[in-house]
Amino acid sequence: MAFLLYIEHIIIAVIVVVLCNIFVNKGKDAFLKVIVGVIKNLPGMDVIIEKVLRNEATNFMKQVNLAPKKGEAKKPRVVIPKVGIPHDQLREELKELQGKENQIEDGNIFAYMYTLPDDHFQIQKECFDRFEKAIGYSVDHDALVTEAHHAFLHENALNPMIFPSLRTMETEILSMSAAMLNGDEDACGFLTSGGTESILMAVKCYRDRAKKLFPHIKEPEIIAPITAHPVIEKAAHYFGLKITRTPIGPDQRADVKAMERAITSDTVLLVGSAPQFCHGIVDDIEAISDLALRKGLPVHVDGCFGGFMLPWVEKLGYEVPKWDFRCPGVTSISADIHKYGYTVKGSSVIVYRNADIRKYQIFVYAEWPGGLYGSPSMAGTRGGGNIAASWTSMRALGEDGYMRKAKELMDITTKLKDGINNIDGLCILGKPCMTGFSIGSNSPDLDILAVADAMEKRGWKMERQQNPFCLHCSILPHHAPVADKMLLHLKECAEECRDNKSLSKQGTAGVYGMMAKIPDKGLISDFIVEFFSEVYKCK
Ligand SMILES: *Cc1c(COP(=O)(O)O)cnc(C)c1O
Ligand SMILES: *[C@@H]1O[C@H](CO)[C@@H](O)[C@H](O)[C@H]1NC(C)=O
Repeated sequence: MAFLLYIEHIIIAVIVVVLCNIFVNKGKDAFLKVIVGVIKNLPGMDVIIEKVLRNEATNFMKQVNLAPKKGEAKKPRVVIPKVGIPHDQLREELKELQGKENQIEDGNIFAYMYTLPDDHFQIQKECFDRFEKAIGYSVDHDALVTEAHHAFLHENALNPMIFPSLRTMETEILSMSAAMLNGDEDACGFLTSGGTESILMAVKCYRDRAKKLFPHIKEPEIIAPITAHPVIEKAAHYFGLKITRTPIGPDQRADVKAMERAITSDTVLLVGSAPQFCHGIVDDIEAISDLALRKGLPVHVDGCFGGFMLPWVEKLGYEVPKWDFRCPGVTSISADIHKYGYTVKGSSVIVYRNADIRKYQIFVYAEWPGGLYGSPSMAGTRGGGNIAASWTSMRALGEDGYMRKAKELMDITTKLKDGINNIDGLCILGKPCMTGFSIGSNSPDLDILAVADAMEKRGWKMERQQNPFCLHCSILPHHAPVADKMLLHLKECAEECRDNKSLSKQGTAGVYGMMAKIPDKGLISDFIVEFFSEVYKCK
């Protein structure tokens, strides 16, 4: 997910340039769609298309510095070194590699990093001092969590009988999470490696539950608003379910009436988000819950982003619509500890209303000569590091720590939202109620993607979104010292880009604009596959 977001605009840039040149020369979309369809299906065309796309992927990688530099000799294939490399040399190499990553102290990214990593290689010391001064952010916390992670890195949660402490910590994490989400004593769940695994497991659980309880259902089907995270699509794809995407209303929330109309006799699950990642807006979960109760369907709420933030934002007194187990139709919630739970990456929970629903997640195989086998989630072997780190993070912060951090981030968020709404031509989409929002344009004379390009020139990494075009912002601890600068730059950029139509034809603004005109999204998917094939080529 993170990676996808990062390269999203790169990918789209290439696709559009290529495909527009090849297939599209401006005109009626429907007509073009037919033409493209015909061309694609000509015999031998698939081979040609693949070749063209691969070529363009390679070219584009050169532009974004992912390809070998010109004149650089082709290196021999990398293999395990014949003789081990001395530790000091490796430390140096690691330090150099880390130095090439995006530096957290720039405060310029709006996703991916919810913690301030400890200064393992001593290169970020000053940055931490600055943060500690700016918001009283205790870097101690992240250091402690890292320590906990290291302490249990080699234990294996595969067998709870051999590692009883891991089991204790894991069940306590789930207890704490279930209570935080207002589940009662029956609520229970499993720890997973991230939001993706939590949602995959929920979908697997509801599929198997339907198989058992409603055997007449032959083609199980999920209904999810278009803003639900792509992982729901991935889950349907992996586990062979059909998925129907429903529209959102002008307030960016799921259109619950449309969800109702989409329900068929094969429907096994309704999905809502709290909040959806795109615009930080919480769907009308109460309405979805009511609908589910009327139709006898379960509801999964994707709280990956908000699960560890909304409870505190609500307690701070901000207006938060009801979204958790207090809505009686909600049967499960996914919540990422590795986001606003402030642990290291690789931790999320999937919490169910009760064990009667949860049991369909568990996989068992009793015939193996190697013994009776059972496993609750995708992974078999699981390192203990994430369990210890998450357990430590939740207990080290406590409610007061989570509330304090939530308040800090909400203060920055409010300041940014107000500031942005005051910039002529810019606006916040809908009514986001926590620490994520999206910036759009409310003036026909201001292209928000041109603003993004101008911001990039000033060192920011913007997250471009579509339908409608806007920029996603997750507000993170590293933004505290740079919020004023961000507002100033947004204002400058908006002024610079206003009334300048030529900017919409350049850079990613031009590319995105053209992309909207590409009629055949299948070609875009093909391109993304080629791009990934090139990016992850062996070295
Ligand atoms: C992050 C996120 C996911 C996916 O979680 P990963 O941890 O990236 O696998 C799913 N849904 C929402 C709303 C998210 O914010
Ligand atoms: C519009 O932007 C282009 C590209 O940056 C610039 O060259 C041009 O001067 C701008 N036009 C106006 C009217 O500001």
